[in-house]
Amino acid sequence: MQPIYLDYNASTPIEPVVAAAMKPFLQDHFGNPSSGHWAAVGAKTALEAARGLVAALLGAESDEIIFTSGGSEANNLALKGVAWALKAKGDHIITSAVEHPAIVGPCQFLEQLGFRVSVVPVNRFGRVDPDDVQGAITARTILISIMHANNEVGTIQPIAEVGRIAREHGILLHTDAAQSVGKIATDVNNLGVDLLTIAGHKVYAPKGVGALYVRRGTPIEPLVHGAGHEAGRRAGTESAMLAVALGAACELAQDLAAMEVVRALRERFWQQLQAVFGQRIVLNGHPEHRLPNTLNVSFIGRIGAEVLARVEGVAASTGSACHTGHVKLSPVLEAMGVAPEIGIGAIRFSLGRGTTREEIDAAAEQLANTLATAV
Ligand SMILES: Cc1ncc(COP(=O)(O)O)c(C=O)c1O
Repeated sequence: MQPIYLDYNASTPIEPVVAAAMKPFLQDHFGNPSSGHWAAVGAKTALEAARGLVAALLGAESDEIIFTSGGSEANNLALKGVAWALKAKGDHIITSAVEHPAIVGPCQFLEQLGFRVSVVPVNRFGRVDPDDVQGAITARTILISIMHANNEVGTIQPIAEVGRIAREHGILLHTDAAQSVGKIATDVNNLGVDLLTIAGHKVYAPKGVGALYVRRGTPIEPLVHGAGHEAGRRAGTESAMLAVALGAACELAQDLAAMEVVRALRERFWQQLQAVFGQRIVLNGHPEHRLPNTLNVSFIGRIGAEVLARVEGVAASTGSACHTGHVKLSPVLEAMGVAPEIGIGAIRFSLGRGTTREEIDAAAEQLANTLATAV
């Protein structure tokens, strides 16, 4: 049996075009992009071209892109960098109840430093109500950070509406777009965001690279101090190879038509599961405002991890953790108010550019067979 990968929200394979773009930097263009001689030229030129490609995907300017080591670093830089830069102005941050740990962690750290964090709730589909964001704003609010799309259930947040509110109040808005880049439109001006996070390995680039978009004029303190790389916002000699990879991946991500094929496969999978399991499965996440590749399904009366363990060869994720017989719901499902007995049966299937119809059909069949026999 061929293994079936349905965990693209966890990580994507590197696209061949991306790998090919990286190759010359393993052998030829070894120079330090900051050097002033011939050996720097290839690396420097490629670095800046890549920055332009990342910016183009977001409808941004090149100088608004900071290369990072990934989504976690970009989120940390956004939150800590803005909080530190604006600490004289205020000490209050607003975020949502369904953020990734790469937002939750920095928020908790900032709380230890004396900042205050308000967490706005989500509805049963995992969506924030912009009025709740508005209601949480105080005279001390300096930053709002709400993810664009959720990694577990795929729910897409009303970022443009939150952006209008943030702008009215003169508050900066960051969005963690690690999961949305390459799946839905992520134009920073349409979204009305001042900062936006990209994670390379979610968009067919390698692990170890990401970017933070920072709108011109946004005050930000670096996390890493040192020399003047990345316009003084992140010290450390840039990896032209990784930047080029992200640039190539972002160029490919411009074509959202590929995601319509993925959406159709996702719908096919859902229909097949419904045909087999009927009332014994429930969709987690928003029926419409959802990433085209994500299907989070609860198998009622089952434990997600146990189901996955039995469906050998199918790689997918479960948000619920089982410790010594006690099953703990993922914080995202908990925030959505999903009942524990339903939430523990949740499995996240996430499709990608490489997913085929045969794989979907085989995965659905395996689930049907396994759960027909499993106790
Ligand atoms: C929504 C979201 N934000 C941030 C991250 C962290 O990105 P990275 O793994 O590149 O640090 C992830 C990865 O799972 C994610 O899904």
